[in-house]
Amino acid sequence: MDKKFVITIDGPAGAGKSTVSKIIAEKLGYIYLDTGALYRALAYKALKIKISLDEVSALRDLCSSTTVELKNIDGQMKVYVDGDDVEEKIRTEEVGLAASKISTFAIVRERLLNLQRETGAKGGIVAEGRDMGSVVFPRADYKFYLDAKLEERIKRRHKELLDKGASVEYESIQKDMFARDKQDTQREIAPLKAPDGAIKIDSENLSVPEVVENIIFYISGK
Ligand code: DC
Repeated sequence: MDKKFVITIDGPAGAGKSTVSKIIAEKLGYIYLDTGALYRALAYKALKIKISLDEVSALRDLCSSTTVELKNIDGQMKVYVDGDDVEEKIRTEEVGLAASKISTFAIVRERLLNLQRETGAKGGIVAEGRDMGSVVFPRADYKFYLDAKLEERIKRRHKELLDKGASVEYESIQKDMFARDKQDTQREIAPLKAPDGAIKIDSENLSVPEVVENIIFYISGK
């Protein structure tokens, strides 16, 4: 495969996008772009400086006064906010929910659009998020939509957080993920949906290697 493709993987929280995208990017020697991390980065700063998450003027100030950068550190893309590495701090459910809230605003989405497109401009990228194939890279070479039932996604996210040593209740994840699904799919701008032409994969009964194998099969077949 000489051509450096743009590969997009969209889907709801907990469908396994990050794990799968990271492995595929590694296998192909591509950049892995986690766009949720960019929304989380802005949300982290919003929570830190305690601004209202649903006021356009506050979010406009946040967007203009915050630097969000992606740096390639030893082959891994890391997100920096105002010069600080925030990779660890943005991975909480609180930040995820706040990211989902602020991502409903056009000002926030526009703020992050160029950064995403510039990162994929030369191809050789696996970009995952909610609107990769529909808005950010509508002309992507391959588009995938990874899904699983809500209950399964809650179970996975709960296990993932417990494995990391966090003490979180199943019910609290259930509540957050339900709210996030609703917000991400029902917002007016760039809602989560399977993009036109996307290959849909239900990860419910598939292991991570099986999902990866499916995706690589489609890509190497072109
Ligand atoms: O993928 P994630 O869980 O890290 O994303 C956090 C939130 O960011 C998600 O609930 C909605 C928002 N997001 C978005 O609106 N568009 C994207 N491309 C990626 C994430």
